[in-house]
Amino acid sequence: MPDTARTNPTVPNDLDSFWMPFTASQAFKENPRLISKAQGVRYTTIDGHELLDGTGGLWCCNAGHNHPTITKAIQDQAATLDFVHNFNQGHPLAFEAAARVTTLAPGFDHVFFTNSGSEAVDTALKIALAYHTARGDGNRRILVGREKAYHGINFGGLSVGGLGLNKGQFGTLYPSTAHMRHTWLPENANSRGLPEHGAELADDLQRLCDLHGGQTIAAVIVEPVSGAGGVFPPPVGYLKRLREICDAHGILMIFDEVITGFGRMGTPFAFEAFGVQPDLVTCAKGMTNATVPMGGVLATAAVRDAFRNGPAKMPDLFHGYTYSGHPLASAACIATLDAYRDDQIFENAAAMAGPWEDMLHSLTDIAAVMDVRNCGILGAVHLKQDGAVGDAGRAAYAGLWDAGLIVRPVGDALCLSPPLTITQDHVDEIGAKLRAQLAG
Ligand SMILES: Cc1ncc(COP(=O)(O)O)c(C=O)c1O
Repeated sequence: MPDTARTNPTVPNDLDSFWMPFTASQAFKENPRLISKAQGVRYTTIDGHELLDGTGGLWCCNAGHNHPTITKAIQDQAATLDFVHNFNQGHPLAFEAAARVTTLAPGFDHVFFTNSGSEAVDTALKIALAYHTARGDGNRRILVGREKAYHGINFGGLSVGGLGLNKGQFGTLYPSTAHMRHTWLPENANSRGLPEHGAELADDLQRLCDLHGGQTIAAVIVEPVSGAGGVFPPPVGYLKRLREICDAHGILMIFDEVITGFGRMGTPFAFEAFGVQPDLVTCAKGMTNATVPMGGVLATAAVRDAFRNGPAKMPDLFHGYTYSGHPLASAACIATLDAYRDDQIFENAAAMAGPWEDMLHSLTDIAAVMDVRNCGILGAVHLKQDGAVGDAGRAAYAGLWDAGLIVRPVGDALCLSPPLTITQDHVDEIGAKLRAQLAG
């Protein structure tokens, strides 16, 4: 048998065939960073370099890597029922997974399964449009997003997203969108947790209602904590104000909890931590601890019930994926929720949020640091621009990799979202590595 990356993970095969996602391919090939092993909070590269995973995979390995409960459940499931679809038939584990997920989400009784966060977002946007249609209110077609938002890369999510670089190659997507301003204000620099200023920015939604007519807006989607745009916690009172405006105009409120779902705020979902009840919630990533692709849209009974008035023999939503509720993903999801419960992982996140915040804010004295932001076990150390935007971020990422810490640079913001299993020692190690790199 030929030596391949599969049989011998230290041997990379050709680096060109794989068109890599969001990757500067040229730069990657000059210095390929290839990881072949993971355990707990650590990765090991093909040449034995050990890294603390400061990004929890990609904001997703909440229980740490290779959790034995999850690994075993996937192995067993693969040997029992590899695949069956859920169109007018099904398998019990998908129902069990759905019930387990909704149990964690007060006020939500239903989940529609997808395979990713992007699919969850597009599904939620379509459910919002179809909800209004079902209620005879089909003039509501505008979808409202926000600057700096990341809602994945499918047509709907990109349309309501707020990152210009992601949109620029594709032109106009879903035509009826409007965007609120982002919430990053200079006066909030180095806020601990939720920033004090900016609740009034939620009134952008009211302005859009005044401009377009509130009765034409189907939904507003926000990440409760904006993540992949650079980690921007919501200003105090901002989300509550958005909810009020939605209520006043009959607009559905969607929280995109693809990052914040499954414990990152110390509660199962961020909406609970912030005391604001949305109508739809998207989730993915931590749903299976990132082991098997899975996402979902949580819906309230009120939203779901709007779809129950059609003929019993017809689908109530003309939407679904071959792999919605895939057996392996369902098994992984159930085992992941077992692990979160049995290892008290959300409780650990809640307990570590204070030490995490202290560590991050201990870095504000470093001359290269412009702003530090944090919320739950999320954080960003935003560097001063040095050269073009992103140069400082890229340089710090490379230096930290060599020093044994993975961060996620977004422009010049070094984003951090380690597994929720982190201990004080891990927090100290991350802090020491950041200081050595940034102040050194
Ligand atoms: C808030 C949010 N929504 C959607 C997505 C897209 O998820 P996926 O990459 O699984 O499609 C992400 C990914 O980071 C995200 O952070």
